[in-house]
Amino acid sequence: MKTPERYLITAALPYANGPLHIGHIAGCYLPADTYVRYLRLHGKDVKFICGSDEHGVPITIKAKKENITPQQVVNTYHEIMKNAFTDFGISFDIYSRTSNKIHHQTAADFFKTLYDKRVFSEEFTEQYFDEKANQFLADRYITGTCPKCGNPSAYGDQCEKCGVSLNPTDLINPTSVLSGEKPILKKTKNWFLPLNQLQAQIEKYIDSHKADWKSNVYGQCKSWLNQGLQPRAMTRDLDWGVKVPLQDAEGKVLYVWFDAPIGYISATKELLPDTWEQYWKNENTHLIHFIGKDNIVFHCIIFPAMLMAHGQYVLPENVPANEFLNLEGDKISTSRNWAVWLHEYLNEFPNKQDELRYVLTSIAPETSDSEFTWKDYQNRVNNEMVAVLGNFINRIAVLMQKYFDGTIPGNGEIPIHNNSVETVIKNTYDALAKNIENYKFRQGLFEVMELARFGNKFLTDAEPWKTIHTDTEKATQVLTDCLHIIAHLGVCLQPFLPFTSKKIFQQLNLKEEYFWKDPISIYAGNRMNKPDLLFQKIEDEAIQFQINKLQHPISEASANIQAQKESISYDDFTKMDIRVGEILTAEKVEKADKLLKLTIDTGIDKRTVVSGIAEYYSPEKIIGKKVSILVNLAPRKIKGIESCGMILMAENSEGKLAFVQPEKNDFENGSIIR
Ligand code: 2FM
Ligand code: ZN
Repeated sequence: MKTPERYLITAALPYANGPLHIGHIAGCYLPADTYVRYLRLHGKDVKFICGSDEHGVPITIKAKKENITPQQVVNTYHEIMKNAFTDFGISFDIYSRTSNKIHHQTAADFFKTLYDKRVFSEEFTEQYFDEKANQFLADRYITGTCPKCGNPSAYGDQCEKCGVSLNPTDLINPTSVLSGEKPILKKTKNWFLPLNQLQAQIEKYIDSHKADWKSNVYGQCKSWLNQGLQPRAMTRDLDWGVKVPLQDAEGKVLYVWFDAPIGYISATKELLPDTWEQYWKNENTHLIHFIGKDNIVFHCIIFPAMLMAHGQYVLPENVPANEFLNLEGDKISTSRNWAVWLHEYLNEFPNKQDELRYVLTSIAPETSDSEFTWKDYQNRVNNEMVAVLGNFINRIAVLMQKYFDGTIPGNGEIPIHNNSVETVIKNTYDALAKNIENYKFRQGLFEVMELARFGNKFLTDAEPWKTIHTDTEKATQVLTDCLHIIAHLGVCLQPFLPFTSKKIFQQLNLKEEYFWKDPISIYAGNRMNKPDLLFQKIEDEAIQFQINKLQHPISEASANIQAQKESISYDDFTKMDIRVGEILTAEKVEKADKLLKLTIDTGIDKRTVVSGIAEYYSPEKIIGKKVSILVNLAPRKIKGIESCGMILMAENSEGKLAFVQPEKNDFENGSIIR
C-alpha cells in the first residue's frame, strides 16, 4: 500500500552563542517558513523542525570569556532565539535544543549504529595538548604566528588577518589560550567517517539532483567532489558535547557537525514520539533542508553520507541554500556588531513583523548575495506595502462603508463579474505556485503584489465613485470584484505575510484561514468590519535612528557585557528584600585592600556591612550617600567582621563600580525597592 506523502522541512539549527540577525532570517528561516506555510495552505502533511545547536567550541570559548558555564550560555541564547522566532511568526512545529537528553541519546545511538556496522576508521593523530590544563586543544584554543603573513595572533584553524586556512601545527610559536603555555603534541584516537570510500555513492546522489537543486548548491557540491572527499573525524577531544558512546572514549565527544543534523531527527522524535519513523524512514517523505550557503557541504555531503552509512533513513530531497545578506554596504558581523538583531527589531518596531518579512523576502539572497539598507526598507514599506497593498484594500473598505455602510449589497453569492479580474486572479495562483515550488520566493511575492497593483488600476480606471449614482449596478460590480481580489490577496499572502493575511480576512469578516483550493464566497448581506489601515508609513526619524545606531556601534567594552543569567521565577525575585539605606560611617578593613566596613541606616536598623568597594571609594567621601541594600542576605563573616546585608553596585565591563541609588533623593531609608 502506498503510504501518504509527507514533508519534513528543517531549518538550520542556529548556534546558541548569540542572537539572530536579519542575515539568518533572510537566508534560512523566512524562506523555510514561507515554504511550510505554502504546504500547509495546500493541506499537506508537513512538520517544520528546528532547535538550537548548543555544542561546538565557540560556545565553550564564550563561556570561558564570560566566566560562566557553556550550559548558561546556551540557556540564555536558546530563550532569546526561541522567543524571537515565535514573535516573528516563524511557525515551527517544534523548536528543540541539542542539549536535551533525547538528542544526546539519539545522536549517541546513531554513532553506535555506524560503529557497530564498522563504518568508521579509527585513526591516531597528534594533537596539541595543554599539560597545565590537562586537555587537548581544539583549533580555536591555540594561537600563534601565521606562517603566511606573520600575524602573531592567528588561530589554529585560520588566520583572521590574511584569511588563510591553517592546521594548528602550521602555527609558529603555538600557545594555549587556556594557560598561555606552549602545548605539546600528543597522540589521540578518533573515529573517522571514510568519505573517500563513499565518494561514488555520494556522487551518484548529487548527480541525480543536477536538474532540481539550485545551481549554487549543486555547483558547490561538485567542486567538493572534484577535489576528492577525505576521511573526516567524527569525534573530538573535548568535554562539551555528546559523549562518544564507547568504552575507550573518555574525554571525547561527537563532532558538532555529526550531532547537529541528527538534531533534526531527535526534534522530530520529541514532537512525534510514536510516529517519527514514518517521516524519517519512509520513501514517501520529502526531506528538505533550508540553510545558508556556509552549511552546504554538511547538508549535501556529510549528513547524506551519514544517512547512507546508517541505511534506514531517507536522504535530503532538496537543500535550497541561500547566499548571504549584507547590511548597508558591508558584511554582517556579530563581533563588530554590524547587524540588525531580530529581537531588537521586534522591540523597536512593534507589530511590524510583516514589514520585515516583506522586505527580507523582496531582497532575499536567492541567487547571489544581496543587501539590506534601512532606506530601502523604508521605501519598500512606504511605496509598496502602504501605497499599493494597504491603499487598495483601504480604498475599497472606505467606499464600501460610504455607499453600503459596509454591508455587501445584492442577493446570495456574488460572483466575479469582470473576466479580466477572474483571469488575473487565476494567473496569480499559477505564478505563485510555480515560483514557490521552485524556491523563488522573491518572484512569488512579486506576483502577489502584481495582483494588488492590478486591483488599484482596475479601481482607478472604473471610477465607481463617479458612476455609483448613474450606473449603480456597474459601480457595485466593480466594488464586489475588488472584494474578490482582496480575499484572494488574503490567501496568496498567507505564506508570506501571515499577520496581514489574518487582518485582511478579519476586515472582510471572513474565516481567518483558507486552503488554497477553498472557494472563497462573497455573500450579500455580509457586513465588513470598519476599515483599519493595514500598514503605517515608516517615518524618516525611525530610519535615521537605526542608521545612527549602526554607525555608532556600542563600544567594544559594552560588547563584552555579560550574557543574561538563567531565568528565575517571580517568587524567586520577591524573596529578595532590597531597601534604600544610607551610609553613616565608613572605614578601611585592616589587611584587606578592597574592603570597607560600613554602618548603614536601613530604616529598619543600623547595621554593619562589609563591602568590596575600597578601590573605588575613599571612606570619607561616601558618608551620607544613599545606597540600595539587600537586607535579608544571611549574615556572613568577612575578615572576622559579621556583615549583615549587601550593598548593590553597578559594575561596568571594565570592572568599575557605582552605587545604585533612587533617582529622587528624598526617599527615606527603609523604602522598598522592587
Ligand atoms: O551554521 C550554523 O549555525 C549551524 N549551527 C547549523 C547547524 S544545521 C544542522 F546541522 F543542525
Ligand atoms: Zn595570516
